[in-house]
Amino acid sequence: MKKIAVLISGSGSNLQAIIDATKSCFIQNAKIECVISNKRDAFGLKRAEDNNIETLFLNSEGLSRQEYTQKLCAKLDERNIDLICLAGFMLVLTDDIFPKYKNKILNIHPALLPSFGGIGLYGKRVHQAVYESGVKVTGATAHFVTKECDRGPIILQEVINILDTDEPDDIAKKVLEIEHRIYPKAVKLFVEDKLQVNGNRVLIKNIS
Ligand code: GRF
Repeated sequence: MKKIAVLISGSGSNLQAIIDATKSCFIQNAKIECVISNKRDAFGLKRAEDNNIETLFLNSEGLSRQEYTQKLCAKLDERNIDLICLAGFMLVLTDDIFPKYKNKILNIHPALLPSFGGIGLYGKRVHQAVYESGVKVTGATAHFVTKECDRGPIILQEVINILDTDEPDDIAKKVLEIEHRIYPKAVKLFVEDKLQVNGNRVLIKNIS
């Protein structure tokens, strides 16, 4: 049984997608051990409570990024976490997380990386940038987290067309639907040990 920690800062709709995937047994042999938020009022904490999942509010106020990362690692270590899922977690952690959790941290990004990613491109800003660039497609990316923000090995991507009538909010809505589909799939592949990281490429083993 793999133990998952989900880190959130807000609504937690991706957390909900992962919860639902474990409840429906789409993801088997895994348990969401805890949900950790740096925001006390994150709605995702309520989603976790409603599903009898342990919640932790880890306040970042007054702490450096390094201190926060170390505090977080202590909580993860205490619980023997196998997989960390970032799901709208708005803090950038420091390298202190990697000695132990290298290739064990996943993230979902609301665009087709490596485009429209990196520091400062998060949330609505991503969809605004996509809209203004005039690209005709966008999508979502589930990827491993590495030291370089939004540049880790890509696990899954799905694409949508951008229509002439789409505004940034329309794009955001359509992309979120994709996120909810591909993030649980990526978690499932991880839990089933089907992901093999080879440099910046992820090979998916025995996919049926
Ligand atoms: C999602 O768009 C995700 O791609 C990004 O943050 C947002 C989180 O949304 N990393 P939610 O909290 O899961 O609803």
